[in-house]
Amino acid sequence: MITGSFKDRSVFITGHTGFKGSWLTIWLHRLGATVSGYSLPPPTTPSNFEASFVRKLLLRHYDGDIRDCVQLHAAMRACSPDVVFHLAAQPLVRQSYRDPLHTLGVNVMGTASLLEAVRELRHPCVVVVITSDKCYENNGPGEPHEESDPLGGHDPYSASKAAAEIIAASYRQSFFPPDDLARHGVKLATVRAGNVIGGGDWAADRIVPDMVRALSSNTAVAVRNPSSVRPWQHVLEPLCGYLLLASRMLASDDPRWLSGWNFGPPARAEVAVREVVDLFCQRWGSVRWQDMSSVDAPYEDHMLRLSTQKAAKELGWQSRWNLGKAIERTCRWYQSFYAQPERSTYELCAEDIADYETSVSKKNGRSAHPPLHAHAR
Ligand SMILES: NC(=O)c1ccc[n+]([C@@H]2O[C@H](COP(=O)([O-])OP(=O)(O)OC[C@H]3O[C@@H](n4cnc5c(N)ncnc54)[C@H](O)[C@@H]3O)[C@@H](O)[C@H]2O)c1
Repeated sequence: MITGSFKDRSVFITGHTGFKGSWLTIWLHRLGATVSGYSLPPPTTPSNFEASFVRKLLLRHYDGDIRDCVQLHAAMRACSPDVVFHLAAQPLVRQSYRDPLHTLGVNVMGTASLLEAVRELRHPCVVVVITSDKCYENNGPGEPHEESDPLGGHDPYSASKAAAEIIAASYRQSFFPPDDLARHGVKLATVRAGNVIGGGDWAADRIVPDMVRALSSNTAVAVRNPSSVRPWQHVLEPLCGYLLLASRMLASDDPRWLSGWNFGPPARAEVAVREVVDLFCQRWGSVRWQDMSSVDAPYEDHMLRLSTQKAAKELGWQSRWNLGKAIERTCRWYQSFYAQPERSTYELCAEDIADYETSVSKKNGRSAHPPLHAHAR
């Protein structure tokens, strides 16, 4: 179903030079889509975008700021997209404390700018806006968040993602109402996922990149919040959810797709940072770590849980890789990268995607999940 949906489709991705965006570009290219990207340069060195030569997969590559409405509109017009995935953002909580105005500008006005560009297109398309599990008003160790829960945000990053949700809902109601699709043709949904891990992430202040950096410089890993519980998942899990949702939106005008969706891991993958560090160390071998918790550290939510009942029931989506598998594939990716840093990592991503698709097919007999078939071009 996904293959049929994206083959020869024009897909426009913002944030394609980033961690998740580069993986999404590779997957969509393998599914036969014609992908164009609009972003600032890769936020880190190294990056999956550079290491996997993602630029070669693109029809068009725009180096631009998401807040630059003129350039964004022109790029989108040139690509005439069937599908838009909006991932461009300042994605780090700690950075949002250091520079709240920048985070709010990129994440809030950037989302508005993207939606305005879609409005000016006057062309039918599917739009998936990527926000975060942090968009919810945190209920501490309460029930997992459902999509209808109140939005909130203690830190500026979380607030920016809640605001992006509100803006998307406002554009849907004001300009792209689901009951008037025949007139405007724009199908808009938002997606919320938790912490993702996988090869090719070198962001600051994230535990897996921190471990990988420590390993490559043979130093101990500084772990800021060892007891914080997070919903961990491999990057391919939410990306699969985004693709499934977009494929459903392409296939039918059913208004139920045009809403917010959680794509989180099962409860058993909600474990403390300490456990993830231990599992990673076991798999890799030689990483030492130190508890660097500090009472002076800026506030970060300690417990975030997502209910994925809606995605399971409506889309047939479910998590395919347990935490052990996600860590195993992630370690494998980075170890291969550091063994031969000059070699392209495209094949590592492609192998992970193919392995993930196999996991989906194997479990298909037991679920309503539509099949994923990849083909390399
Ligand atoms: N990685 C996670 O664990 C996680 C969890 C939940 C939500 N998210 C969301 O997923 C999306 C992608 O996250 P990521 O981890 O890949 O981040 P990333 O930092 O690796 O990538 C961010 C991308 O946005 C681009 N960008 C940043 N500022 C921009 C600007 N002003 N104009 C144009 N492009 C700009 C960067 O160039 C890059 O391509 C973000 O919206 C993030 O908030 C990520």
